[in-house]
Amino acid sequence: MPQPRLSRRQILAGMATLPAFPSLAQANGTPQLLRLMPSTQQIAPEGYPATDLWTINGRLPGEALHAAQGDRLRVTVQNDLPQPSALHWHGIRIQNTMDGVPGITQDPIAPGARFDYDFALPDAGTYWYHSHAQAIEQVERGLQGPLIVNEAEAPDVDQDLTLMLDDMRLTREAAISEGFDNGHDLSHGGRLGNVLLTNGTMQAAYPVQQGNRLRLRLINSANARIFTLGLQGLRGWIMALDGMPLPAPQNLPDRITLAPAQRVDLFVDVTAAAGEDAFLIHFDRDGGFEQARFLVSGAGTARPAPPPLPPNPDFPIDLTQARNVDLTMEGGAMAWLQKAQLDGVALDGRALAQIGKFWAFNGHVGRPAEPLVTANLGETIRVTLRNTTRWPHAMHLHGMHFAEVLPDGQLGPLRDTLLMQPGDTRDIAFQAHNPGDWLFHCHMLGHHMAGMGTWVRVL
Ligand code: C2O
Ligand code: CU
Repeated sequence: MPQPRLSRRQILAGMATLPAFPSLAQANGTPQLLRLMPSTQQIAPEGYPATDLWTINGRLPGEALHAAQGDRLRVTVQNDLPQPSALHWHGIRIQNTMDGVPGITQDPIAPGARFDYDFALPDAGTYWYHSHAQAIEQVERGLQGPLIVNEAEAPDVDQDLTLMLDDMRLTREAAISEGFDNGHDLSHGGRLGNVLLTNGTMQAAYPVQQGNRLRLRLINSANARIFTLGLQGLRGWIMALDGMPLPAPQNLPDRITLAPAQRVDLFVDVTAAAGEDAFLIHFDRDGGFEQARFLVSGAGTARPAPPPLPPNPDFPIDLTQARNVDLTMEGGAMAWLQKAQLDGVALDGRALAQIGKFWAFNGHVGRPAEPLVTANLGETIRVTLRNTTRWPHAMHLHGMHFAEVLPDGQLGPLRDTLLMQPGDTRDIAFQAHNPGDWLFHCHMLGHHMAGMGTWVRVL
């Protein structure tokens, strides 16, 4: 592994004991109040001003919601922000009315109003929640948090750490840079930040013991950044993707790609010696950047390889009976839209660009009146995705997980978000087991805003 370029920084005295997250009260009791509220937090290093955010209960990320598989989650969302909002429970195979999508599953929660979410949690794993209203702005300002559903039997690890990976675009005064509808961002790679955050800080550090086994739940909550991650001083396995356990743990590759909204659960053993630090590193063109640091003490010996996590309920995908639909992704910089439909009206690319629309699915900009497909309950749907654009996209289906149909015809792991590179043609398939109207969109939030959204109906 090439030596990463790590910034030298002082670990502040208090940081070595930074708690992972406070855990909310048991979810089956009275509803938990989640207040969407303005707040201020130190995001930039000491010496810079604190940053004004929109938070859930006063902090970024929002409190980790913990529940047991099979429980119900009951939360009351109180909107004390100046914009309407709604919370989406990303990756949960949820009942449709609780999906948190204004305009499809609920009315937006007006400033000053409340909404009660109450839904079952069928699957164990690593999920997250975020605003699904004016998301490009509200998620960036801080409306995001982890949702952890515990397996009935806790796996054998010494520490369970949730790391929410984000970036943020700050001004020199450490304020969130405005201009969320910036046409350059929308038509290119989306809004990228100029600082990298883990759990809302640029200086995430966790004490660990040599030889200990950690469960790392990595969540990409960034607006548009694709993280390319490597580990130093830690060795282990990929256990789950987008919440869903792999049938067999997979040895950690050198690099893990995590597209916006994707999650990966790792089990890693601490191999660095006491007194050394171990690292989670994000690699980009400019080198390696420290995403989190692990302060190693003690001495211990590693355990044998872990068994897989227990499987979640299965909704088998039957490719022999599958109905095929096509989804062609078009537009963006260097492959500009010529013409597309918006709300039933054909417009040329220039007219669309003037109103901040740059992308289309099957010739439609934004959510069309008709669904991409209307599926019967239990039917297998196979979607051929064609990325004719010059940009990567993170395609997310609400309400159901899908599997990629690999070139050899086998099904890949279950996911809820798929990274499509420029020029890619890839097939995914899912069993339409969850009735309702479900969004299917690019999770690069600016791309969604600028046209990349459709939906599927399950009868
Ligand atoms: Cu994270 Cu439409 O969702
Ligand atoms: Cu996109």
